[in-house]
Amino acid sequence: YSRFHTSAIRRNNPNEIAFVFDIDGVLIRGGQPIPQAKPTLELLKSLQVPFMLLTNGGGVTEHQRTQYLSKNLGTYLNPIQIVQSHTPFKTLTNAYRRVLVVGGPEDKARHAAISYGFQEVVIPADIVRADPSIWPFHKYTAEQLDQWGDKSVNVADKPFDAIFVFNDPRDMGSDLQIILDLLNSENGYLGTKRNLEKLEDRSKPAIPIYFSNNDLLWANEYKLSRLGQGAFRICVERLYQELNEVDKLEDTIIGKPNVLTYDYVHNALIDWRLKILANNDLVYHPQELTQVVPQLGEKPQNSPFKKVYMIGDNPASDIQGANNYGWESCLVKTGVYQDSDFHNLTVKPTHIVDNVYEAITTVLKTNQ
Ligand code: G3P
Ligand code: MG
Repeated sequence: YSRFHTSAIRRNNPNEIAFVFDIDGVLIRGGQPIPQAKPTLELLKSLQVPFMLLTNGGGVTEHQRTQYLSKNLGTYLNPIQIVQSHTPFKTLTNAYRRVLVVGGPEDKARHAAISYGFQEVVIPADIVRADPSIWPFHKYTAEQLDQWGDKSVNVADKPFDAIFVFNDPRDMGSDLQIILDLLNSENGYLGTKRNLEKLEDRSKPAIPIYFSNNDLLWANEYKLSRLGQGAFRICVERLYQELNEVDKLEDTIIGKPNVLTYDYVHNALIDWRLKILANNDLVYHPQELTQVVPQLGEKPQNSPFKKVYMIGDNPASDIQGANNYGWESCLVKTGVYQDSDFHNLTVKPTHIVDNVYEAITTVLKTNQ
């Protein structure tokens, strides 16, 4: 990396630029760190340039995710430096009391939802454990249901207030069935069915459903891009339409490229900048910090940044979202996007680069 001379950059970020990094396909791919990730983050730390991670992935707490990333990438990241697909759901804990949380490994999304402050969190494993005939073809083993399913949950005695899809489903069949049961229920009571004839607006489900990302595709170690939560959302919507003889399901979708998610991460980035200006040591050492949580849809006030660069591998999510939001963007070739896709590229990033290190060095040179 010697071709880039850090000394050429004035310290303390006089140009007030900041970076927001996507994770899968930019810093990590299929569980393996992308080699340029560590030097990239370490260079920005040394230059005191603030950065955040913004991923459409999730399923675990921000603490667990940054712990894993810090270890895997070999450089420390604070839990308030990450916005996962479901992090903005933190802002909805007062709106809904009893929620179904879907997706992610084991029962980890339950713990993420509880850490946000949701009062009563039920996951599909609780429901399958209580009555496996709800989806007789489920793929949980008895041990998994025992471990992940909470037997103290009485699934039918109280109504559900909302459904939150935190991450890609791990047992898509049972997740689909349970979600559709609730969308079509009598006021959120599992095991009941509302009367279609009496409905004024069939596109409105019995309880609201929130999807945390809309990625049709994402990149892992397989040679082709894989179907993501966006594909699952299409399945839920299509089945709802069929069952309700209607052409729409009213739902809410956050995550990149949605502006709600960009507002959220922008607010979090402003907060992080203030914290590191007060104490730059935070970028190197674990410290328990409280993020100032903005409201969903709250526009950042007085952003100090002249330019914010989103570094991503997915044109439809990272780049589209940044462009819509008025941010700059760099598209890397280490994930979803490959050179051969160039002719189909409908969104235009500020820069197209080989990898994340080339992204930041190009940007730093441009802003010198
Ligand atoms: O499931 C994760 C995937 O949809 C995208 O993750 O980090 O590339 O936004 P990321
Ligand atoms: Mg990505």
